[in-house]
Amino acid sequence: MAEQKQMGKIKVIVCQDKQEVAREGANIFAQAVRENPAIVMGLATGGTPVGMYKKLIQMHKEEALDFSRASSFNLDEYLGLSGDHDQSYRYFMDENLFNHINIDKSKTRVPDGKAQDTQMSCRKYEEDIRAAGGIDMQLLGIGSNGHIAFNEPGSGGDSRTRVVDLTEGTVRDNARFFEDGSQVPRKAVTMGIGTILEAKKIVLLATGSNKADAVTKAIKGSVSSAVPASFLQHHPDCTFIIDREAATGL
Ligand code: PGA
Repeated sequence: MAEQKQMGKIKVIVCQDKQEVAREGANIFAQAVRENPAIVMGLATGGTPVGMYKKLIQMHKEEALDFSRASSFNLDEYLGLSGDHDQSYRYFMDENLFNHINIDKSKTRVPDGKAQDTQMSCRKYEEDIRAAGGIDMQLLGIGSNGHIAFNEPGSGGDSRTRVVDLTEGTVRDNARFFEDGSQVPRKAVTMGIGTILEAKKIVLLATGSNKADAVTKAIKGSVSSAVPASFLQHHPDCTFIIDREAATGL
């Protein structure tokens, strides 16, 4: 059974294992979709959310969880990869979620990694989020260095959607997804921390001992751009769903 605790403004749900993290995360999203079928979801890529997406697909198939009126914005995309590249985040989202539920694909957005004018395209992403009425529920992972989306250490709390350089550590962490590790892009387009903090509700998932340090600093450390996830301490409605291994420092 998951154990809940309140740490400052952040609600922490500590689960037995990553399967329970996936279940808890999916239940929270499913309930939000049922309460507000026209929900604007903020979605994330990476290894962590895959189990939760599998659960949502199962709920769509077995319990008629209906995404037909939902829309979404993803956090980030590699710069230079088009949506049909098998390591692009657009491709990841199609494969791991969108192709298996009844969401209208034209209402799913991922930042454009191939935009001619990146500044304009970043500004437009922010405008599109605003025009959609803002993000109702934002899913996040956390990097082992405390990044959220691709907001690496040093990112300001008021940062907006922009092009960023990835740290060596992040490039290394992500190399496991690429056949040839030297192919990992070094730049990305990411929502800013300011963008993320405007979501009405935030749900962060973290599993495994390699996330324990980042989780501890995010929840208990001082709020600083050295640990981008620490800015979540200012958010009024943020829940961390983590497994026991990621919770060892709390
Ligand atoms: P991961 O990435 O889920 O693949 O560990 C999380 C992140 O870097 O935000």
